[in-house]
Amino acid sequence: MHRFFSSGSLSFRPIIISMSAIQPLGRSQFGNPANAGHTMPIEEAHALLNKWVGNEKLRLHMKQVAAVMRAWALEREGADEQTALKWELAGLLHDADWEKYPDQHCRIIVEKLEELNIDPEIIHAIASHGPRHFGVEPENAMDKMIYTFDELSGFVHAAALIRPTGYEGMDVKSVQKKLKNLAFAAQVSREDIQDAISRIDTSLEEIIQFVIDHQKEVR
Ligand SMILES: [Fe+2]
Repeated sequence: MHRFFSSGSLSFRPIIISMSAIQPLGRSQFGNPANAGHTMPIEEAHALLNKWVGNEKLRLHMKQVAAVMRAWALEREGADEQTALKWELAGLLHDADWEKYPDQHCRIIVEKLEELNIDPEIIHAIASHGPRHFGVEPENAMDKMIYTFDELSGFVHAAALIRPTGYEGMDVKSVQKKLKNLAFAAQVSREDIQDAISRIDTSLEEIIQFVIDHQKEVR
């Protein structure tokens, strides 16, 4: 889920799409277990993203989540390259259907990845990135972290955009302060952020720092 586009350095334009139009996925099993370990080259995922998503800011959002997911897998989960690619692909494609198929968000990308015989863990992570909307509970670490990073990545980026120096010198406390200011990036669900953080063993402060450190260079 991604609830806002930043429309410039000083203002935020809410998403027009009504989230209430999104239907729960109605299932908890995704993909075929026989496809475990089957991924796609990251270049192919970028090509899919470019084909499906015209909005540059939305593409940037997905690239940022992908970068943070990959870094977390490598640095915090001790993942090998193949596993890190799975985390990265989940991040890169999680909102890929949103622009073209707003009423069927998540269902379309899930079905596309099933058609492509992609590893079920990647598909499950995407399906569980908004449990309140898609009705799929995050189960493993990859699921929980994509849920956690999705909103916070967008929020941190929104906070960076209104700073004269962007990410340069940005600290965790200033982001936390903005989180408490409900008028700032109001479309970002503080409830989802709290819920996601309550499911993991890492503090909000640490997650915010990780996001700042790993998405600031993403273009
Ligand atoms: Fe998102």
